[in-house]
Amino acid sequence: MNAIDIRNKYLKFFEKHGHVIIPSAPLIPENDPSVLFTTAGMQPLVPYLLGQKHPEGKRLTDYQKCVRTVDIDEVGDNRHLTYFEMLGNWSLGDYFKEESIQMSFDFLTKELGITVEKLSVTVFAGDEDAPRDEESASIWKKVGMPEDHIYYFGKEDNWWIAGEVGPCGPDTEMFYDTGKEPCSEHCNPSCSCGKYVEIWNNVFMEYYKEKDGTYSKLKQRNVDTGLGLERMNMLLQGKETPYDTEIFLPVMEKLQELATNDNLQSRRIVAEHLRSSIMIISDGGRPSNVDRGYVLRRLIRRMTRHLNKLGISLDELGNLIELNINVLNKMYPELNKNKETIKQVILEEKDKFIKTLSHGEKEFEKALLRIKNENKDKLDGQTVFKLYDTYGFPPEVTKDLAIEQGYKIDMDGFEKLYKEHQEKSRMGSEQKFKGGLADQTPETISYHTATHLLNAALKVVIGPDVHQQGSNITKERMRFDFNCDHKLTDEEKEKIEKLVNEWIKEALPVTAEEMKKEDAIKSGAECMFIEKYPDIVTVYKIGEVSKELCGGPHVKNTSELGVFKIKKEEASSAGIRRIKAVLIKE
Ligand code: ALA
Repeated sequence: MNAIDIRNKYLKFFEKHGHVIIPSAPLIPENDPSVLFTTAGMQPLVPYLLGQKHPEGKRLTDYQKCVRTVDIDEVGDNRHLTYFEMLGNWSLGDYFKEESIQMSFDFLTKELGITVEKLSVTVFAGDEDAPRDEESASIWKKVGMPEDHIYYFGKEDNWWIAGEVGPCGPDTEMFYDTGKEPCSEHCNPSCSCGKYVEIWNNVFMEYYKEKDGTYSKLKQRNVDTGLGLERMNMLLQGKETPYDTEIFLPVMEKLQELATNDNLQSRRIVAEHLRSSIMIISDGGRPSNVDRGYVLRRLIRRMTRHLNKLGISLDELGNLIELNINVLNKMYPELNKNKETIKQVILEEKDKFIKTLSHGEKEFEKALLRIKNENKDKLDGQTVFKLYDTYGFPPEVTKDLAIEQGYKIDMDGFEKLYKEHQEKSRMGSEQKFKGGLADQTPETISYHTATHLLNAALKVVIGPDVHQQGSNITKERMRFDFNCDHKLTDEEKEKIEKLVNEWIKEALPVTAEEMKKEDAIKSGAECMFIEKYPDIVTVYKIGEVSKELCGGPHVKNTSELGVFKIKKEEASSAGIRRIKAVLIKE
Protein backbone atom coordinates (compact mmCIF):
# COMPACT_ATOMS: atom_id res chain seq x y z
CA MET A 1 0.00 0.00 0.00
CA ASN A 2 1.27 3.49 -0.78
CA ALA A 3 0.02 7.02 -0.14
CA ILE A 4 -2.26 7.14 -3.17
CA ASP A 5 -3.85 3.82 -2.20
CA ILE A 6 -4.52 5.10 1.31
CA ARG A 7 -6.01 8.33 -0.03
CA ASN A 8 -8.25 6.48 -2.50
CA LYS A 9 -9.38 3.94 0.07
CA TYR A 10 -10.23 6.76 2.47
CA LEU A 11 -12.28 8.80 0.02
CA LYS A 12 -14.08 5.71 -1.29
CA PHE A 13 -14.85 4.47 2.22
CA PHE A 14 -16.46 7.75 3.23
CA GLU A 15 -18.21 8.10 -0.09
CA LYS A 16 -19.74 4.69 0.56
CA HIS A 17 -20.92 6.08 3.90
CA GLY A 18 -22.82 8.92 2.27
CA HIS A 19 -20.08 11.58 2.07
CA VAL A 20 -19.53 13.74 -1.00
CA ILE A 21 -15.90 14.03 -2.11
CA ILE A 22 -14.98 17.71 -2.38
CA PRO A 23 -11.74 19.07 -3.89
CA SER A 24 -8.81 20.27 -1.80
CA ALA A 25 -8.89 24.03 -1.29
CA PRO A 26 -5.72 25.87 -2.38
CA LEU A 27 -2.89 26.09 0.14
CA ILE A 28 -3.25 29.84 0.10
CA PRO A 29 -6.59 30.70 1.63
CA GLU A 30 -8.84 33.05 -0.26
CA ASN A 31 -10.51 35.92 1.49
CA ASP A 32 -8.83 35.01 4.71
CA PRO A 33 -5.98 37.31 5.66
CA SER A 34 -5.88 35.83 9.14
CA VAL A 35 -3.91 32.73 8.22
CA LEU A 36 -0.77 32.32 6.13
CA PHE A 37 -1.64 28.89 4.74
CA THR A 38 -4.36 26.32 4.93
CA THR A 39 -3.33 24.31 7.99
CA ALA A 40 -6.21 21.85 8.32
CA GLY A 41 -9.04 20.39 6.28
CA MET A 42 -11.61 22.22 8.38
CA GLN A 43 -10.26 25.66 7.63
CA PRO A 44 -12.02 26.28 4.30
CA LEU A 45 -15.16 24.78 5.86
CA VAL A 46 -15.48 27.16 8.81
CA PRO A 47 -18.59 28.97 7.49
CA TYR A 48 -20.33 25.59 7.17
CA LEU A 49 -19.27 24.45 10.62
CA LEU A 50 -20.89 27.64 11.87
CA GLY A 51 -24.18 26.72 10.23
CA GLN A 52 -24.11 27.98 6.65
CA LYS A 53 -25.58 25.35 4.29
CA HIS A 54 -22.95 23.56 2.18
CA PRO A 55 -24.10 22.97 -1.41
CA GLU A 56 -22.87 19.35 -1.31
CA GLY A 57 -24.78 18.45 1.83
CA LYS A 58 -24.01 17.52 5.41
CA ARG A 59 -21.44 14.74 4.87
CA LEU A 60 -18.20 15.71 3.17
CA THR A 61 -14.80 14.16 2.69
CA ASP A 62 -11.60 15.32 1.02
CA TYR A 63 -7.84 15.36 0.96
CA GLN A 64 -6.52 18.78 1.90
CA LYS A 65 -3.11 20.21 1.06
CA CYS A 66 -1.72 21.75 4.27
CA VAL A 67 1.30 23.80 5.32
CA ARG A 68 2.26 24.32 8.96
CA THR A 69 5.38 26.36 9.49
CA VAL A 70 5.66 26.71 13.25
CA ASP A 71 8.07 23.77 13.21
CA ILE A 72 10.13 24.87 10.23
CA ASP A 73 13.38 24.66 12.20
CA GLU A 74 12.63 21.11 13.31
CA VAL A 75 12.50 19.78 9.75
CA GLY A 76 15.31 17.31 9.24
CA ASP A 77 14.42 15.14 12.21
CA ASN A 78 12.35 12.04 11.63
CA ARG A 79 8.86 13.46 11.83
CA HIS A 80 8.35 17.20 11.26
CA LEU A 81 7.10 18.23 7.83
CA THR A 82 6.07 21.72 6.71
CA TYR A 83 3.85 20.40 3.90
CA PHE A 84 1.53 17.47 4.51
CA GLU A 85 -1.72 16.08 3.27
CA MET A 86 -4.68 15.72 5.60
CA LEU A 87 -7.47 13.27 4.87
CA GLY A 88 -10.71 14.37 6.48
CA ASN A 89 -14.40 13.67 6.83
CA TRP A 90 -17.04 16.05 8.14
CA SER A 91 -20.48 15.91 9.56
CA LEU A 92 -22.10 19.34 9.33
CA GLY A 93 -24.82 18.94 11.92
CA ASP A 94 -25.43 15.35 10.84
CA TYR A 95 -23.92 12.28 12.58
CA PHE A 96 -22.00 12.67 15.82
CA LYS A 97 -19.81 10.57 18.12
CA GLU A 98 -21.31 7.13 17.61
CA GLU A 99 -21.15 6.98 13.83
CA SER A 100 -17.88 8.89 13.65
CA ILE A 101 -16.05 6.51 15.99
CA GLN A 102 -17.58 3.43 14.36
CA MET A 103 -16.46 4.59 10.89
CA SER A 104 -12.93 5.43 12.07
CA PHE A 105 -12.59 2.08 13.78
CA ASP A 106 -13.86 0.21 10.71
CA PHE A 107 -11.60 2.15 8.37
CA LEU A 108 -8.49 1.49 10.45
CA THR A 109 -9.17 -2.17 11.19
CA LYS A 110 -11.02 -3.37 8.10
CA GLU A 111 -9.80 -1.14 5.26
CA LEU A 112 -6.22 -0.61 6.42
CA GLY A 113 -6.00 -3.91 8.25
CA ILE A 114 -4.52 -2.52 11.47
CA THR A 115 -5.06 -4.89 14.39
CA VAL A 116 -6.79 -3.62 17.52
CA GLU A 117 -3.70 -4.45 19.60
CA LYS A 118 -1.78 -1.78 17.68
CA LEU A 119 -4.37 0.90 18.42
CA SER A 120 -4.95 3.15 21.44
CA VAL A 121 -7.30 6.08 21.80
CA THR A 122 -7.58 9.14 24.00
CA VAL A 123 -10.71 11.05 25.02
CA PHE A 124 -11.40 14.31 26.85
CA ALA A 125 -11.13 14.10 30.64
CA GLY A 126 -13.57 16.98 31.26
CA ASP A 127 -13.23 20.36 32.97
CA GLU A 128 -15.32 23.41 33.81
CA ASP A 129 -16.01 24.11 30.11
CA ALA A 130 -17.19 20.69 28.97
CA PRO A 131 -17.98 17.33 30.59
CA ARG A 132 -15.80 14.22 30.69
CA ASP A 133 -16.33 12.38 27.43
CA GLU A 134 -17.63 9.09 28.86
CA GLU A 135 -19.81 8.81 25.77
CA SER A 136 -16.87 8.48 23.36
CA ALA A 137 -15.09 6.09 25.71
CA SER A 138 -18.11 3.82 25.90
CA ILE A 139 -18.56 3.89 22.11
CA TRP A 140 -14.90 2.91 21.73
CA LYS A 141 -15.48 -0.02 24.09
CA LYS A 142 -18.58 -1.04 22.21
CA VAL A 143 -16.85 -1.11 18.83
CA GLY A 144 -14.09 -3.31 20.22
CA MET A 145 -11.35 -1.15 21.76
CA PRO A 146 -9.93 -2.84 24.88
CA GLU A 147 -10.60 -0.74 27.99
CA ASP A 148 -6.91 -0.45 28.86
CA HIS A 149 -6.25 1.12 25.44
CA ILE A 150 -8.53 4.07 26.26
CA TYR A 151 -6.96 7.08 27.99
CA TYR A 152 -8.42 10.32 29.36
CA PHE A 153 -6.55 13.62 29.00
CA GLY A 154 -7.30 17.31 29.53
CA LYS A 155 -7.59 20.26 27.15
CA GLU A 156 -3.90 20.33 26.22
CA ASP A 157 -4.23 16.89 24.58
CA ASN A 158 -7.90 16.35 23.83
CA TRP A 159 -9.40 19.63 22.75
CA TRP A 160 -9.03 21.08 19.27
CA ILE A 161 -9.31 24.61 17.91
CA ALA A 162 -7.63 26.35 14.96
CA GLY A 163 -5.96 29.27 16.71
CA GLU A 164 -7.61 31.29 19.44
CA VAL A 165 -11.19 31.89 18.44
CA GLY A 166 -13.73 29.81 16.54
CA PRO A 167 -15.47 26.46 16.37
CA CYS A 168 -13.89 23.83 18.61
CA GLY A 169 -14.58 20.93 20.91
CA PRO A 170 -13.29 17.85 22.66
CA ASP A 171 -11.60 15.33 20.43
CA THR A 172 -10.76 11.68 20.43
CA GLU A 173 -7.37 10.82 19.02
CA MET A 174 -6.19 7.51 17.65
CA PHE A 175 -2.65 6.24 18.13
CA TYR A 176 -0.56 3.54 16.49
CA ASP A 177 1.79 1.55 18.70
CA THR A 178 5.09 1.20 16.84
CA GLY A 179 6.08 -1.70 19.06
CA LYS A 180 9.02 0.21 20.58
CA GLU A 181 9.81 -0.39 24.24
CA PRO A 182 7.87 1.92 26.59
CA CYS A 183 10.09 4.79 27.76
CA SER A 184 8.94 4.33 31.38
CA GLU A 185 6.24 2.61 33.36
CA HIS A 186 4.10 5.71 32.74
CA CYS A 187 4.56 5.64 28.97
CA ASN A 188 1.24 6.41 27.27
CA PRO A 189 -0.08 8.00 24.04
CA SER A 190 0.47 11.56 25.32
CA CYS A 191 4.18 10.82 25.61
CA SER A 192 6.53 12.03 22.87
CA CYS A 193 9.04 9.16 23.11
CA GLY A 194 7.90 7.78 19.75
CA LYS A 195 6.29 4.54 20.89
CA TYR A 196 2.81 5.87 20.16
CA VAL A 197 2.22 7.85 16.97
CA GLU A 198 -0.94 9.90 16.56
CA ILE A 199 -2.72 8.92 13.37
CA TRP A 200 -6.18 10.43 13.41
CA ASN A 201 -8.07 13.10 15.26
CA ASN A 202 -11.87 13.27 15.45
CA VAL A 203 -13.06 16.60 16.82
CA PHE A 204 -16.59 16.81 18.15
CA MET A 205 -17.16 20.44 17.31
CA GLU A 206 -20.11 21.71 19.23
CA TYR A 207 -18.59 24.78 20.91
CA TYR A 208 -17.47 28.22 19.83
CA LYS A 209 -14.65 29.91 21.70
CA GLU A 210 -15.21 33.65 22.01
CA LYS A 211 -12.51 36.33 22.10
CA ASP A 212 -12.92 36.65 25.87
CA GLY A 213 -12.10 32.94 26.31
CA THR A 214 -15.63 31.79 27.10
CA TYR A 215 -17.39 28.98 25.25
CA SER A 216 -20.87 28.93 23.75
CA LYS A 217 -22.72 26.14 21.97
CA LEU A 218 -22.72 26.16 18.15
CA LYS A 219 -25.99 26.04 16.21
CA GLN A 220 -25.19 22.49 15.21
CA ARG A 221 -23.03 19.59 16.37
CA ASN A 222 -20.26 18.85 13.84
CA VAL A 223 -17.57 16.26 13.41
CA ASP A 224 -14.21 17.36 11.96
CA THR A 225 -11.53 14.76 11.45
CA GLY A 226 -7.95 14.80 10.22
CA LEU A 227 -5.65 11.93 9.32
CA GLY A 228 -2.03 12.70 8.36
CA LEU A 229 -1.36 10.85 5.14
CA GLU A 230 2.46 10.82 5.14
CA ARG A 231 2.54 9.49 8.68
CA MET A 232 -0.03 6.77 8.06
CA ASN A 233 1.83 5.74 4.91
CA MET A 234 5.09 5.48 6.84
CA LEU A 235 3.53 3.35 9.59
CA LEU A 236 1.77 0.98 7.22
CA GLN A 237 5.00 0.43 5.34
CA GLY A 238 6.82 -0.20 8.62
CA LYS A 239 9.19 2.69 7.93
CA GLU A 240 10.84 4.88 10.55
CA THR A 241 10.35 8.19 8.75
CA PRO A 242 8.28 9.59 5.86
CA TYR A 243 11.58 10.07 4.00
CA ASP A 244 11.84 6.30 3.65
CA THR A 245 8.59 6.09 1.66
CA GLU A 246 7.88 6.56 -2.04
CA ILE A 247 6.93 10.21 -1.43
CA PHE A 248 10.51 11.24 -0.72
CA LEU A 249 12.75 8.32 -1.70
CA PRO A 250 13.49 9.23 -5.34
CA VAL A 251 14.68 12.72 -4.34
CA MET A 252 16.53 11.43 -1.26
CA GLU A 253 18.38 8.88 -3.39
CA LYS A 254 19.23 11.39 -6.10
CA LEU A 255 20.63 13.76 -3.47
CA GLN A 256 22.75 10.97 -2.05
CA GLU A 257 24.09 10.21 -5.49
CA LEU A 258 24.98 13.86 -6.13
CA ALA A 259 26.33 14.70 -2.67
CA THR A 260 30.07 15.01 -2.23
CA ASN A 261 29.63 15.72 1.46
CA ASP A 262 26.62 13.62 2.37
CA ASN A 263 24.61 14.07 5.53
CA LEU A 264 21.14 12.72 6.19
CA GLN A 265 19.68 15.75 7.89
CA SER A 266 20.59 18.10 5.04
CA ARG A 267 19.14 15.70 2.50
CA ARG A 268 15.88 15.56 4.43
CA ILE A 269 15.74 19.34 4.67
CA VAL A 270 16.31 19.74 0.92
CA ALA A 271 13.73 17.07 0.03
CA GLU A 272 11.11 18.43 2.42
CA HIS A 273 11.55 22.13 1.62
CA LEU A 274 11.65 21.43 -2.10
CA ARG A 275 8.31 19.63 -1.91
CA SER A 276 6.73 22.41 0.20
CA SER A 277 8.04 25.13 -2.10
CA ILE A 278 6.71 23.35 -5.18
CA MET A 279 3.27 22.95 -3.61
CA ILE A 280 3.09 26.56 -2.38
CA ILE A 281 4.22 28.05 -5.70
CA SER A 282 1.82 25.85 -7.63
CA ASP A 283 -1.03 27.32 -5.58
CA GLY A 284 0.09 30.87 -6.33
CA GLY A 285 2.61 31.64 -3.57
CA ARG A 286 5.62 33.83 -4.42
CA PRO A 287 8.70 34.67 -2.32
CA SER A 288 8.70 38.08 -0.63
CA ASN A 289 9.74 39.71 2.61
CA VAL A 290 6.44 39.42 4.41
CA ASP A 291 4.07 36.79 5.70
CA ARG A 292 3.59 33.76 3.48
CA GLY A 293 6.04 35.10 0.91
CA TYR A 294 8.66 35.19 3.62
CA VAL A 295 7.94 31.61 4.64
CA LEU A 296 8.43 30.53 1.04
CA ARG A 297 11.64 32.58 0.82
CA ARG A 298 12.99 30.90 3.95
CA LEU A 299 12.13 27.46 2.61
CA ILE A 300 13.94 28.06 -0.69
CA ARG A 301 16.95 29.68 0.97
CA ARG A 302 17.31 27.00 3.60
CA MET A 303 17.10 24.37 0.89
CA THR A 304 19.76 26.16 -1.17
CA ARG A 305 22.04 26.37 1.84
CA HIS A 306 21.74 22.66 2.52
CA LEU A 307 22.41 21.84 -1.13
CA ASN A 308 25.63 23.80 -0.68
CA LYS A 309 26.38 21.93 2.49
CA LEU A 310 25.92 18.63 0.70
CA GLY A 311 28.42 19.77 -1.89
CA ILE A 312 25.81 19.63 -4.64
CA SER A 313 26.16 22.14 -7.47
CA LEU A 314 23.25 24.59 -7.59
CA ASP A 315 23.11 23.94 -11.32
CA GLU A 316 21.43 20.66 -10.38
CA LEU A 317 18.46 22.46 -8.83
CA GLY A 318 16.46 22.61 -12.06
CA ASN A 319 16.76 18.83 -12.50
CA LEU A 320 15.87 18.21 -8.88
CA ILE A 321 12.70 20.29 -9.26
CA GLU A 322 11.76 18.29 -12.36
CA LEU A 323 12.39 15.02 -10.58
CA ASN A 324 10.32 16.07 -7.57
CA ILE A 325 7.44 17.28 -9.72
CA ASN A 326 7.44 13.93 -11.51
CA VAL A 327 7.16 12.17 -8.16
CA LEU A 328 4.43 14.49 -6.85
CA ASN A 329 2.49 14.59 -10.09
CA LYS A 330 0.87 11.28 -9.34
CA MET A 331 -0.78 12.80 -6.32
CA TYR A 332 -1.21 16.35 -7.57
CA PRO A 333 -1.77 16.37 -11.35
CA GLU A 334 -2.11 20.19 -11.30
CA LEU A 335 1.67 20.45 -10.89
CA ASN A 336 2.23 19.56 -14.53
CA LYS A 337 0.44 22.66 -15.66
CA ASN A 338 2.51 24.89 -13.37
CA LYS A 339 5.85 23.18 -13.91
CA GLU A 340 7.62 26.00 -15.77
CA THR A 341 6.44 28.68 -13.34
CA ILE A 342 7.51 26.59 -10.35
CA LYS A 343 10.97 26.11 -11.83
CA GLN A 344 11.35 29.76 -12.70
CA VAL A 345 10.30 31.02 -9.26
CA ILE A 346 12.61 28.66 -7.35
CA LEU A 347 15.60 29.28 -9.61
CA GLU A 348 15.17 33.07 -9.48
CA GLU A 349 14.96 32.98 -5.70
CA LYS A 350 18.08 30.81 -5.57
CA ASP A 351 19.93 33.39 -7.69
CA LYS A 352 18.80 36.20 -5.40
CA PHE A 353 20.04 34.22 -2.44
CA ILE A 354 23.46 33.73 -4.01
CA LYS A 355 23.67 37.53 -4.38
CA THR A 356 22.62 37.93 -0.74
CA LEU A 357 25.35 35.57 0.28
CA SER A 358 28.04 37.48 -1.52
CA HIS A 359 26.69 40.77 -0.13
CA GLY A 360 26.66 39.18 3.35
CA GLU A 361 30.26 38.11 2.92
CA LYS A 362 31.29 41.73 2.36
CA GLU A 363 29.39 42.79 5.47
CA PHE A 364 31.09 39.99 7.35
CA GLU A 365 34.51 41.27 6.29
CA LYS A 366 33.59 44.76 7.49
CA ALA A 367 32.41 43.41 10.83
CA LEU A 368 35.63 41.47 11.24
CA LEU A 369 37.72 44.53 10.47
CA ARG A 370 35.84 46.42 13.17
CA ILE A 371 36.53 43.65 15.69
CA LYS A 372 40.20 43.68 14.71
CA ASN A 373 40.42 47.47 15.11
CA GLU A 374 38.83 47.18 18.53
CA ASN A 375 41.52 44.62 19.43
CA LYS A 376 38.94 41.92 20.13
CA ASP A 377 39.19 38.28 19.19
CA LYS A 378 35.54 37.37 19.30
CA LEU A 379 32.64 38.14 16.99
CA ASP A 380 29.71 39.14 19.21
CA GLY A 381 26.22 37.62 19.04
CA GLN A 382 24.65 40.93 18.03
CA THR A 383 26.81 41.08 14.89
CA VAL A 384 26.09 37.46 13.99
CA PHE A 385 22.39 38.16 14.43
CA LYS A 386 22.54 41.35 12.35
CA LEU A 387 24.29 39.51 9.53
CA TYR A 388 21.55 36.92 9.67
CA ASP A 389 18.56 39.20 10.14
CA THR A 390 19.52 42.10 7.88
CA TYR A 391 21.58 40.38 5.20
CA GLY A 392 20.14 36.88 5.38
CA PHE A 393 23.66 35.59 6.03
CA PRO A 394 23.40 32.15 7.64
CA PRO A 395 24.98 32.00 11.14
CA GLU A 396 26.72 28.71 10.44
CA VAL A 397 28.48 30.34 7.47
CA THR A 398 29.49 33.25 9.72
CA LYS A 399 30.83 30.74 12.21
CA ASP A 400 32.87 28.83 9.63
CA LEU A 401 34.37 32.01 8.20
CA ALA A 402 35.20 33.48 11.61
CA ILE A 403 36.94 30.31 12.75
CA GLU A 404 38.80 30.03 9.46
CA GLN A 405 40.21 33.50 10.07
CA GLY A 406 41.24 32.71 13.62
CA TYR A 407 38.40 34.40 15.51
CA LYS A 408 36.08 33.16 18.20
CA ILE A 409 32.36 33.62 17.90
CA ASP A 410 29.57 34.11 20.45
CA MET A 411 27.02 31.61 19.15
CA ASP A 412 25.21 31.54 22.52
CA GLY A 413 24.61 35.28 22.26
CA PHE A 414 23.32 34.76 18.74
CA GLU A 415 21.02 31.91 19.83
CA LYS A 416 19.56 34.09 22.56
CA LEU A 417 18.72 36.93 20.16
CA TYR A 418 17.47 34.44 17.61
CA LYS A 419 15.12 32.80 20.12
CA GLU A 420 13.74 36.20 21.15
CA HIS A 421 13.14 37.01 17.50
CA GLN A 422 11.51 33.63 16.88
CA GLU A 423 9.25 34.07 19.87
CA LYS A 424 8.14 37.44 18.50
CA SER A 425 7.44 36.07 15.05
CA ARG A 426 5.68 33.04 16.47
CA MET A 427 3.46 35.35 18.48
CA GLY A 428 2.90 37.28 15.27
CA SER A 429 1.85 34.21 13.34
CA GLU A 430 -0.42 33.07 16.14
CA GLN A 431 -2.04 36.49 16.05
CA LYS A 432 -2.92 35.72 12.50
CA PHE A 433 -5.09 32.88 13.62
CA LYS A 434 -7.36 35.21 15.49
CA GLY A 435 -10.50 35.69 13.49
CA GLY A 436 -10.20 34.20 10.05
CA LEU A 437 -13.18 32.75 8.27
CA ALA A 438 -14.71 32.35 11.70
CA ASP A 439 -14.59 36.12 12.05
CA GLN A 440 -17.66 36.92 10.01
CA THR A 441 -18.15 40.50 11.10
CA PRO A 442 -20.55 42.77 9.19
CA GLU A 443 -17.49 44.68 7.96
CA THR A 444 -15.74 41.68 6.40
CA ILE A 445 -18.99 40.45 4.88
CA SER A 446 -19.58 43.88 3.29
CA TYR A 447 -16.09 43.90 1.83
CA HIS A 448 -16.64 40.44 0.46
CA THR A 449 -19.69 41.62 -1.48
CA ALA A 450 -17.78 44.73 -2.60
CA THR A 451 -15.12 42.51 -4.24
CA HIS A 452 -17.84 41.07 -6.49
CA LEU A 453 -18.99 44.55 -7.49
CA LEU A 454 -15.43 45.68 -8.15
CA ASN A 455 -14.80 42.57 -10.25
CA ALA A 456 -17.89 43.40 -12.34
CA ALA A 457 -16.99 47.09 -12.65
CA LEU A 458 -13.48 46.26 -13.87
CA LYS A 459 -14.98 44.19 -16.67
CA VAL A 460 -17.14 47.10 -17.78
CA VAL A 461 -14.44 49.77 -17.55
CA ILE A 462 -11.27 47.87 -18.52
CA GLY A 463 -12.55 44.92 -20.52
CA PRO A 464 -14.25 41.52 -20.31
CA ASP A 465 -10.95 39.65 -20.00
CA VAL A 466 -10.16 41.12 -16.62
CA HIS A 467 -10.51 38.51 -13.89
CA GLN A 468 -9.90 38.34 -10.19
CA GLN A 469 -6.47 36.93 -9.30
CA GLY A 470 -6.75 37.13 -5.53
CA SER A 471 -8.21 39.14 -2.71
CA ASN A 472 -7.55 39.90 0.89
CA ILE A 473 -10.06 41.33 3.31
CA THR A 474 -9.79 42.70 6.81
CA LYS A 475 -12.37 44.57 8.85
CA GLU A 476 -10.74 47.82 7.76
CA ARG A 477 -10.18 47.43 4.00
CA MET A 478 -10.18 45.22 0.95
CA ARG A 479 -7.45 44.37 -1.49
CA PHE A 480 -8.23 43.01 -4.92
CA ASP A 481 -5.79 41.67 -7.53
CA PHE A 482 -6.69 41.41 -11.20
CA ASN A 483 -4.96 40.88 -14.51
CA CYS A 484 -4.38 44.07 -16.47
CA ASP A 485 -1.51 45.19 -18.68
CA HIS A 486 -1.42 48.82 -17.63
CA LYS A 487 -1.56 51.18 -14.70
CA LEU A 488 -5.11 52.43 -14.34
CA THR A 489 -5.60 56.05 -15.32
CA ASP A 490 -7.33 58.49 -12.97
CA GLU A 491 -10.25 58.49 -15.34
CA GLU A 492 -10.55 54.69 -15.21
CA LYS A 493 -10.37 54.69 -11.44
CA GLU A 494 -13.10 57.33 -11.22
CA LYS A 495 -15.32 55.40 -13.59
CA ILE A 496 -14.89 52.20 -11.57
CA GLU A 497 -15.65 53.94 -8.31
CA LYS A 498 -18.68 55.64 -9.79
CA LEU A 499 -20.06 52.41 -11.20
CA VAL A 500 -19.69 50.50 -7.93
CA ASN A 501 -21.34 53.35 -6.01
CA GLU A 502 -24.21 53.47 -8.51
CA TRP A 503 -24.83 49.76 -7.97
CA ILE A 504 -24.75 50.29 -4.22
CA LYS A 505 -27.31 53.13 -4.54
CA GLU A 506 -29.54 50.97 -6.72
CA ALA A 507 -30.01 48.71 -3.66
CA LEU A 508 -29.50 45.51 -5.67
CA PRO A 509 -30.52 42.25 -4.00
CA VAL A 510 -27.78 39.66 -3.39
CA THR A 511 -29.10 36.15 -3.97
CA ALA A 512 -27.59 32.68 -3.85
CA GLU A 513 -28.48 29.72 -6.00
CA GLU A 514 -27.12 26.18 -5.99
CA MET A 515 -26.40 24.52 -9.29
CA LYS A 516 -24.11 22.07 -11.06
CA LYS A 517 -20.64 23.48 -11.58
CA GLU A 518 -20.80 22.95 -15.36
CA ASP A 519 -24.15 24.78 -15.57
CA ALA A 520 -22.75 27.64 -13.52
CA ILE A 521 -19.79 28.00 -15.86
CA LYS A 522 -22.04 27.73 -18.92
CA SER A 523 -24.25 30.48 -17.54
CA GLY A 524 -21.19 32.75 -17.57
CA ALA A 525 -20.65 32.89 -13.82
CA GLU A 526 -17.25 34.24 -12.83
CA CYS A 527 -14.92 31.84 -11.05
CA MET A 528 -11.33 32.11 -9.87
CA PHE A 529 -10.15 28.56 -9.15
CA ILE A 530 -12.40 26.25 -11.08
CA GLU A 531 -10.76 23.04 -9.75
CA LYS A 532 -11.36 24.17 -6.20
CA TYR A 533 -15.10 23.93 -6.42
CA PRO A 534 -17.17 20.79 -5.83
CA ASP A 535 -19.62 19.54 -8.45
CA ILE A 536 -22.51 21.39 -6.89
CA VAL A 537 -21.72 25.05 -6.31
CA THR A 538 -23.31 28.18 -4.95
CA VAL A 539 -23.61 31.05 -7.38
CA TYR A 540 -24.05 34.50 -5.89
CA LYS A 541 -25.90 37.04 -8.03
CA ILE A 542 -25.98 40.76 -7.40
CA GLY A 543 -28.95 42.12 -9.30
CA GLU A 544 -28.09 41.65 -12.95
CA VAL A 545 -24.57 43.07 -12.62
CA SER A 546 -22.59 40.21 -11.13
CA LYS A 547 -22.66 36.44 -11.04
CA GLU A 548 -19.87 34.52 -9.27
CA LEU A 549 -19.15 31.08 -7.86
CA CYS A 550 -18.48 31.72 -4.22
CA GLY A 551 -18.81 30.26 -0.74
CA GLY A 552 -20.20 33.47 0.72
CA PRO A 553 -21.29 34.89 3.05
CA HIS A 554 -22.59 38.14 1.59
CA VAL A 555 -24.84 41.05 2.54
CA LYS A 556 -28.46 40.72 1.49
CA ASN A 557 -28.61 44.01 -0.39
CA THR A 558 -25.94 46.31 -1.82
CA SER A 559 -27.51 49.25 0.05
CA GLU A 560 -25.81 47.89 3.17
CA LEU A 561 -22.32 48.62 1.83
CA GLY A 562 -21.79 52.38 2.30
CA VAL A 563 -19.61 54.39 -0.06
CA PHE A 564 -16.90 52.63 -2.07
CA LYS A 565 -13.58 54.44 -2.33
CA ILE A 566 -10.39 53.37 -4.10
CA LYS A 567 -7.40 54.24 -1.94
CA LYS A 568 -4.59 52.95 -4.10
CA GLU A 569 -3.87 51.20 -7.38
CA GLU A 570 -0.49 49.59 -7.86
CA ALA A 571 1.41 46.74 -9.47
CA SER A 572 1.20 43.45 -7.60
CA SER A 573 3.38 41.33 -9.86
CA ALA A 574 3.99 41.04 -13.61
CA GLY A 575 0.68 41.67 -15.41
CA ILE A 576 -1.24 41.82 -12.16
CA ARG A 577 -2.57 45.07 -10.64
CA ARG A 578 -3.86 45.58 -7.14
CA ILE A 579 -6.60 47.88 -5.88
CA LYS A 580 -6.90 48.80 -2.23
CA ALA A 581 -10.31 50.16 -1.34
CA VAL A 582 -12.49 50.98 1.62
CA LEU A 583 -16.19 51.19 2.32
CA ILE A 584 -17.21 54.29 4.20
CA LYS A 585 -20.40 53.76 6.15
CA GLU A 586 -22.47 56.91 6.38
N1 ALA B 1 -8.92 19.77 12.57
C1 ALA B 1 -8.39 18.66 13.26
C2 ALA B 1 -6.88 18.62 13.20
O1 ALA B 1 -6.29 19.37 12.45
C3 ALA B 1 -8.98 17.40 12.78
O2 ALA B 1 -6.28 17.83 13.88
